[in-house]
Amino acid sequence: MRTLTLVGVGVGPGDPELLTLKAARMLREADAVFAPSTAADKPSRAEEIVRAATGVDARRLVFALDDSGGVTPHRTAAWDEAGRAVLDAFSTGADRIAFATLGDPNVYSTFTYLAETVIALGGEEHVRVETVPGITAMQDLAARSGTVLTQGREPLALIPATADEAVLTDAFTGTGTVVVYKGGRRLGDVLEAAAAAGRAAHTVIGTDLGLPTEQIIRPAEPGVIPSAPYFTTLIAPPPRRAGRGGAL
Ligand SMILES: C[S@@+](CC[C@H](N)C(=O)[O-])C[C@H]1O[C@@H](n2cnc3c(N)ncnc32)[C@H](O)[C@@H]1O
Repeated sequence: MRTLTLVGVGVGPGDPELLTLKAARMLREADAVFAPSTAADKPSRAEEIVRAATGVDARRLVFALDDSGGVTPHRTAAWDEAGRAVLDAFSTGADRIAFATLGDPNVYSTFTYLAETVIALGGEEHVRVETVPGITAMQDLAARSGTVLTQGREPLALIPATADEAVLTDAFTGTGTVVVYKGGRRLGDVLEAAAAAGRAAHTVIGTDLGLPTEQIIRPAEPGVIPSAPYFTTLIAPPPRRAGRGGAL
């Protein structure tokens, strides 16, 4: 019996140099490589990172990446079609299929839905799912902006800006660093919540990290940036006591 494997490969947020050696090997050794895209005729970020880092051409799978309405018929149809494309590749001879995904495949990734779909549609076929970790946008922004994510006893909260307001407020009034993903349209509200919790001074925002369009901003004042593109990450560390080991 054949062993069929679907591997979610994290390719980092944008800079091809942040794709790991293991990710590069997995992509080169796979029988087929796919990458998510918003349209069949539109190259995706993941696809471009894979090409720049490894020379491998990934096949596009179209997902409703910009659909913000939950489990919509559009999104469900896209998951199913992508799942069928992967199963077709298995049935035409591929034993090992890689799916390139931005950042890490276990952090807010389309890979989760693809893997669930392939398992559900797989029927008789036994498909093993694996993941290869990738550098997250949060880590890249911390490095590029010189921001320490956590020290000593501080917790770390990663929250999508689409979460309930109470979730954001709780995190900002807590003792740890808050990282906000998917912040684009709600950035103004997120910044206000950060400022209300006394975090404006050290808040940093990164858009298109690792790409020529990259921007890193320290807003300091709320309301200055009402919105930003989807590929925006915010880090708001807690107020820290000065001095070495202040958070121990
Ligand atoms: C669907 S999540 C994917 C997260 C990804 N799996 C990770 O591990 O970082 C998309 C969010 O990741 C963040 N993101 C991904 N790539 C980014 C980049 N190059 N620059 C800034 N933020 C990025 C943004 O907050 C964006 O809204």
